[in-house]
Formats: sequence, C-alpha cells, structure tokens
Amino acid sequence: MENLEEIAIFTTKASIICVFRTFTPFLDQIFPDSCQKIPPCSEYRRFLLPRLTIFAIIIPRTVQPVQNLQTGRHGRGRVSCANLKKGGPHLAVSEGGQMTIAEERSRISGGPQHGLTADAYRSEEIWQQECQTILAKNWVFIGFAHQIAEPGDANPVTCAGLPLLTVRGRDGTIQVFHNVCLHRCMTLVDKPKNVGKLIRCPYHAWAYDLDGRLRAAPHFAGTGKQEFEGFDLRQHRLRQVRTHVWHDWIFVNLDGEAAAFEDYAAPLISRLEGMDFTKIEPIGLLDFGEINTNWKLIMENFIEPYHVQFVHASTTDQPLEDHYTIIDGNCIGSAVDLKEEIGTSGSLGVSSRYLTLYPNFILGRYFPDQLGVYLNVPIGPGRMRQYRALYTTEGQHLSAEEIQGLRNLWWDVHKEDHEMVERMFEGRRSPVAWDGGLLSPAWEDSVRAFQDLIERDLASDSNGKEKVDG
Ligand code: FES
Ligand SMILES: [Fe+2]
Repeated sequence: MENLEEIAIFTTKASIICVFRTFTPFLDQIFPDSCQKIPPCSEYRRFLLPRLTIFAIIIPRTVQPVQNLQTGRHGRGRVSCANLKKGGPHLAVSEGGQMTIAEERSRISGGPQHGLTADAYRSEEIWQQECQTILAKNWVFIGFAHQIAEPGDANPVTCAGLPLLTVRGRDGTIQVFHNVCLHRCMTLVDKPKNVGKLIRCPYHAWAYDLDGRLRAAPHFAGTGKQEFEGFDLRQHRLRQVRTHVWHDWIFVNLDGEAAAFEDYAAPLISRLEGMDFTKIEPIGLLDFGEINTNWKLIMENFIEPYHVQFVHASTTDQPLEDHYTIIDGNCIGSAVDLKEEIGTSGSLGVSSRYLTLYPNFILGRYFPDQLGVYLNVPIGPGRMRQYRALYTTEGQHLSAEEIQGLRNLWWDVHKEDHEMVERMFEGRRSPVAWDGGLLSPAWEDSVRAFQDLIERDLASDSNGKEKVDG
C-alpha cells in the first residue's frame, strides 16, 4: 500500500469502520449477521495512525497543485490578471528531498519577489489582452525614420498585430496609416519600397497620395466613371494613426489617448542630457529576423545587468559590481559607470546606459560616442522580431572595416541573448514556471518594475478596439 491513492482509500475506509465500531454493541444486537462480516477494528487501527499522519502531510502539498497544473487556470477557466500577480499558482512537488518552492518562499519571506507567471508569456488570450491594452494605450516604437529617408518611401510594419504603413511625405514629414485599402480592405504595401507619388493598391488600382487622400478609384462607378451620388473621392482617405517621430524613432499610440510624447518619455529624455542629437548618424541596421520568444522576455533581459558577466563573458568586460538599476516611471533599465574603459578589441568595456521606454523601446548608450537602438516587434505570444540600429553620436567617421567590426560585435552579443530568451520561453512550458521564478532584489528590481507596468495595463480597461482617425 505504497501509493497515495491506496493510502487515501484505506484511511477513509478505516475511519468509517472505526466510527461504525463505536456503535457495534447496539448494531451487533440489531444486525448480528452483518456485523460478523466486518474485520476486527484492531486490524485497521494498526495502519490508521501512521497512514493518517502521512495523509495529512502529503495530500495538501501534492493533490492541490496537480489540479492547478491540469487546468492551468485559477477561477473559472478565464485567464485573468490575478494569474499574473506575484506568487500565482505554484508547483509544490518534493523530489529527492529538495525544498519545494512553497517551502522556499516561506523560508525566505521578505526575500526575492516573483516574476510574472508563465501564462503571461505563453497565453494567446493574454497576448490579445496586450494588444488591446499595453500596445494600444502607450507610445509603441514601430520603426526607424532613416528607413524611409526619401519622399515616397513606405515601410509596412505591425503594431499590436495590426498592419500599419509608415510613409515619408513630399514635404519630408512622416505619417503612419493603417496599411489597408478602403475598397476591399487589402493590405496596400507588403514590402519596403518607394511608391512614388501614389500608394496604389494592387487589387483594383485605387490610389492614395502620400497624405492618404484617395485620388483614384478606376471604373468604380462603371467603365470610365469613378464617382457617383453618395461616393465622392474627396471624402475618403487612409486611416491615420497618432504618430510621434522622436529623432530617428517612430512611435504610435493606437488609442490616441496617451499623454503627449514629451511627457510620456520625460524620464528617458532627461537621462540623455548632453547628447547632441543633431550629430547622431545611423551607421548600420541589423535585422535578426524572428525570434521564438515572448517580447517581454527580451525587454526583461535588457533591463537586468545580472546575466551580462555570464552570458557575455567573451563579448563584454563590464564587472557586475559597477552596475546599478534604474527605475523611473516609463524609463527602466540599468547603467554601468566604469572608472576607466577596459574594453579590448572586439569586446565592449565602456561606461554605458541601458535604457528602455515602456513598453518596447530600447536604447543603449555607450560612452563616449556610440548609441544602439533596438526595435522589438511583438508578433504573438511566442514570436517577435528584433532589429538593432547602430549610431555614432559625435559625427566621427568610421571606416567600413570598423563598422563591420561593430556589426559583428553586436550580432554576437544579441545572439547570445537570443539563446537565453528562447530558452526562457521554453522553460515557461513547465509547471515550475507558474511561480514566476525568483528575482534578485539587487539586480532585478528593475525587471519587477517593468512587470508592474505590464500588470497595471493588463488590469486596465481596453476600449475594445483601437481608435481610427479619419
Ligand atoms: S482592394 Fe484595394 S483597390 Fe480593391
Ligand atoms: Fe544581454
């Protein structure tokens, strides 16, 4: 009788028999034949006490968590924000004498905080919530202005799963439209290109100017006729998205309700004091393609300096003890102040600022004269895309060889990180990850601050759909 189920059945039976036996003197007289068939009480009692003790210890620790793991949910099957709270459902299986997470947590009460539960990274439902809240309410980074340098340049991008189109107008300004034709709602542009003076839909040749105004709807009203009563070309234009271009970086706010960008980004902007943005020059763009992870893991990885000494041992020379974390509203990250630059050729060993603007903008400043900006494009719960733009900040001239050296260095650094975040995503298949892991109070309080913003937004009301400006 070693297995848990047998012990449970036996203990239940024994309890019933003992109660039954209490009344035996009366029952023996009433049902003499039946009572003779019941085994003596002492046989059960011999097992009862030790089994009851085992039962009392094991059942609460094992049975309940298994139920949680099977359903993967609290409550009524709907993934709610409560699932994202620190210390959500947890595994408490004791194996090989190791301390369970529940035990560990109580042992270190007041110790490390927990991260977001696995659902926050893997659930399709939470991804949909993110699209309606985090990625709709905030200023989301979607592209580099230098990618559309000339009038007529157009670049299709996505934000919160929506197809958008960044366009450089004839006057040099940048506008962002929903990349959808007004006729039959086909996506208008499917790859970066110069569209000339008109954005022409390939399906029935409706054409829009660079400000989004509908200029042609050939034969829409019959051969050679476009307009008719109730349909006036001038009444129609591509739907615009609230846009802010900050230096080389294009942001959108889908619901149109976020604070003015300068206020929203003030904590980040204040940390870039002394930078002459007129001297910033893009010298390269790395396209890492799709990465099999959740976009938040990439953000968290950048925010914490804890992993640098281990993951980037061959590419960086930045001692952990010289780092500190930064938590200031929408700007979260870390920094390292080195007394002297210790980098060797092909590695990074300089004072740096690793700054993010919630939710997906990343800026790395490397003193004295380099800047890197990451474009992190969330695509789904387990898919994202990443680019890195390299900049000089002092107008210095770099040779092609030097630029290639920088490209190689950053390619390697990012690849080191990608392996980690893909494996972090895999790890979140396990019930162990329901707990959200443990966060260092010294190096990952910044990660927790990022996660607090995620929880805040997921708990907020969504408008149900993004605002579409006419
Ligand atoms: S769908 Fe664009 S012209 Fe018909
Ligand atoms: Fe890293």
